[in-house]
Amino acid sequence: MQIISTTQELRGRLKSEPSVAFVPTMGNLHQGHLALVRQAREHGRCVVVSIFVNPLQFGPNEDFAKYPRTFEQDCEKLAGLADVVFAPTVADLYPEPQQVYVEPPPVANELCGAFRPGHFRGVATVVLKLFNIVQPRAAVFGKKDYQQLHVIRAMARQLNLPLEIVAGETLRAGDGLALSSRNGYLGAEERAEAVRLYRNLARIRESIVAGNLDFPALERGAIDDLEAHGWCVEYVLVRAADSLASAQAGELNLVVLAAAWLGKTRLIDNLEICLNADKDL
Ligand code: PAJ
Repeated sequence: MQIISTTQELRGRLKSEPSVAFVPTMGNLHQGHLALVRQAREHGRCVVVSIFVNPLQFGPNEDFAKYPRTFEQDCEKLAGLADVVFAPTVADLYPEPQQVYVEPPPVANELCGAFRPGHFRGVATVVLKLFNIVQPRAAVFGKKDYQQLHVIRAMARQLNLPLEIVAGETLRAGDGLALSSRNGYLGAEERAEAVRLYRNLARIRESIVAGNLDFPALERGAIDDLEAHGWCVEYVLVRAADSLASAQAGELNLVVLAAAWLGKTRLIDNLEICLNADKDL
């Protein structure tokens, strides 16, 4: 496995690679990331993983400075799974002030975007830059960041990017909590409590599958339960899985998404809900 820290060197290394599969990350890797890297192997001969904490996607009061940076452990985990680790510096990726941005679709201003203004613009911009540097034939993104996956897919389609966007399933701890670099911020008591987010999403999924389509009441129930246990909820919303628009009656592919703060830690999660078309026949 090669570790490369400049754009120029990476371009040289990948020049004669016809089939690159790419997994962009911000490091502090866990099994969820590694599952995406294994999946990438099925889509390209050369697997490139980037590790870059992207300042453009963090708001002024967010955790850019304290985001966990664990480069050496990350490289140990990737040895044997990736062919190339690309870990540029901020100065290498942004040699001049970034004034050209990818403007994501309006849905990027809802859900997480409503609470993190400019976040998806920063994500889309850095991902397009990375795509242009790595020039992969496929790139793998986790469903854990469902809205991010949606924005990247829209960008790839609408800007005719010559690559396939591959989705990876969310990896969870034994109790159901979605693996996340930010779980490391949780104290022991908070870690035990954190699973409540997943449990509420699972309860909403069960109710919907059982035929309860009163989404506002289901959303309210989850918010109330979380708030009663000390969470500060940003949103719990049932949306159409394909568009992330409000779910219309008859919609068969749904997703319930949530973001909430537990103490000083912001957690997000989601669950897809596929209703059976034959159900009511
Ligand atoms: P990061 O949070 O490091 O996540 C990198 C990739 O891992 C993303 O595609 C994310 O959805 C996926 N991932 C995170 N937790 C996961 C889990 N439990 N199971 C499966 N996949 C999981 O997302 C970013 O970085 C950045 O926004 C990035 C796309 C790199 C742009 O800066």
